Amino acid sequence: MFKNSSITRRRFVYMGVSGLAGATAVAVGKDSYQMYQSQALDNLKRDFKVVGQTPLKKRATAKGLIYGAASGRDFLVSDKNLKTSIVRECGILVPENELKWDAVRPAPDKFDFTRADWLAQFARTHNMLFRGHTLVWYMQLPNWFKEVVNRQNAEKFLVEHITTVTKRYAGRMHSWDVVNEAIEPDDGQKAGLRKSPWLQFLGPDYIELAYRVAAQADPKAMLVYNENALEYSGRKEEVKRTAVLKLLERLKSRGTPIHALGIQSHLVAQEGALNAKKLRTFLSDVASLGLKILITELDVSDQKLPSDPAVRDRIVASVYEDYLSVVLDEKAVIAVLNWGLSDRHTWLSTFTPRSDGAPVRPLPLDSSFKPKLAWNAMARAFDQARKR
Ligand code: G3I
Repeated sequence: MFKNSSITRRRFVYMGVSGLAGATAVAVGKDSYQMYQSQALDNLKRDFKVVGQTPLKKRATAKGLIYGAASGRDFLVSDKNLKTSIVRECGILVPENELKWDAVRPAPDKFDFTRADWLAQFARTHNMLFRGHTLVWYMQLPNWFKEVVNRQNAEKFLVEHITTVTKRYAGRMHSWDVVNEAIEPDDGQKAGLRKSPWLQFLGPDYIELAYRVAAQADPKAMLVYNENALEYSGRKEEVKRTAVLKLLERLKSRGTPIHALGIQSHLVAQEGALNAKKLRTFLSDVASLGLKILITELDVSDQKLPSDPAVRDRIVASVYEDYLSVVLDEKAVIAVLNWGLSDRHTWLSTFTPRSDGAPVRPLPLDSSFKPKLAWNAMARAFDQARKR
């Protein structure tokens, strides 16, 4: 939702002062501000009309785009409604957790691909593309990592991991998030790099090494750098976008085999203003490096929205449509994936629950797998997108 927050604030000051007095007023003012804010976001004139029930993957393909979602293996095994919905709506699947270090490395000298293989087979059986997430990250490292990996052996572990995992699916992977979330300017490191074990053990060159090893193991896969918190117009995001751009420029200038940027797109309704111009400029800057762009983990948190599900659904749908209309305007954007497909299975239930205890509603399908206005918003964005 693109809103001019200074107008909103001015009106809030007016509402906060006029006709309200004392501490209560501030509290009421705050509530009325929240209501006002959500009213401002909840534009009743938007009907999110969409023609037909054509699945999102088909609407995306019609424009040369790929649409899909992340899912965990266990939910696909146990929930037949999720399985039906994923097969109907998605042209690409990414394992939510099954290809991370803690899932495939039970011991320093052991790999276990049982769960990841199941998902790779599921995608193949249902003619879906398959993408990998993620070969190098600072989170979800196995418990033994801290005791075993050090400055002397870190390169061996990194090269062995990337080679073994990437080779296993070589030729069958649409793309890999080779390195995930390597930038964190608040860590105070050179070039805004995140103070991860990989940086501490190997220095900044671990990133280039990762892409070169992955390219050697699977020359066919599109190799992606995946990052979060790039979407909003705050100072922190601006600094992060600049650091990511410089990293990509550096990698490209050294001939690193990197092909795309993944923008996670974990959006939060009613928090942080999206600035279309800044976001669009960033996308053009990335594209000008000859890189493609994937929207890799799209969801819209409704944690801060009023309790009424109908209001929340309209606001969440507005954020989906407004965000996608900007990003899909950039022809280098080739894929959009949700991080989950149905509200029944979303990481946000655990990670950012609502204070009123109401189930969160961040995804295109509700917890009964029925399309929501967010589904309409995505369908409309694909229908209105320029053909690639
Ligand atoms: O596998 C264990 C299980 O054995 C144990 O019983 C259970 C309870 O403790 O935990 C299970 O591990 C959980 C894992 O998901 C698999 O379900 C972890 O506790 C939990 O922290 C982990 O959360 C994942 C999170 O990444 C970790 O940071 C979320 O499911 C996953 O959606 C989320 O995904 C990340 C992307 O990889 C990167 N971008 C951000 C995105 C959201 O945080």
